[in-house]
Amino acid sequence: MLIAVDGPAASGKGTIARALAAHFHLPHMDTGMLYRAVALNLWRWGGDLGSEFEALRACDVAAVDPDDPEIRSEPISSIASRVSAYPSVRAALLDRQRQFAQQPGGAVLDGRDIGTVVAPAADAKLFVMASAEVRAQRRVRELLERGLPAHYEDVLTDIRARDERDMGREVAPLSQADDAILLDTTDLTADEAIVEAIRLVEARLAATAT
Ligand code: C5P
Repeated sequence: MLIAVDGPAASGKGTIARALAAHFHLPHMDTGMLYRAVALNLWRWGGDLGSEFEALRACDVAAVDPDDPEIRSEPISSIASRVSAYPSVRAALLDRQRQFAQQPGGAVLDGRDIGTVVAPAADAKLFVMASAEVRAQRRVRELLERGLPAHYEDVLTDIRARDERDMGREVAPLSQADDAILLDTTDLTADEAIVEAIRLVEARLAATAT
């Protein structure tokens, strides 16, 4: 069974995707981590953000370290959103995501273009969203919990800029697939969002099984 979870930054898609993976006993891939790893690589080399060629070279990342303290920082989030607009960077990371999606037994992937590009034939697709203000509050809480600096106004500005870039880019922009189910988490706690996500996916699977 293949489940695609897409949505903007801090919408709750990561939490939901992890919970769906645990519930259905499926492996999970946070595809944003791939773009973040490229961003971190480029930044550590002192590479030129404005150069698609240098960003492509930074795709040569052997492994993603999700525990690297910098990988979730605001500067890396912003660089990830910039390098992800380069078509050659997206193409370089596509195979890895498709292979993960096509493994026997299925998988859960979360990102921006899973339901539209990486796994358009997914059995269930969720598009998770929330207001920019609520997403900024969540992001500030998460950064502070990780011991990273965070200021609400800066984070809100950054989230809006990332939304614009992710939705406005030419290749694989963030958009809801026609057959994706919308889940608005603005007024939901994480637990409520997870319960609703499981209910929606189970309903979709039951509907397509008949
Ligand atoms: O999901 P996360 O916020 O960690 O992703 C970081 C950045 O990577 C996003 O802002 C987006 O620009 C990019 N991304 C993408 N396609 C994906 C996953 C992430 O373009 N499937």
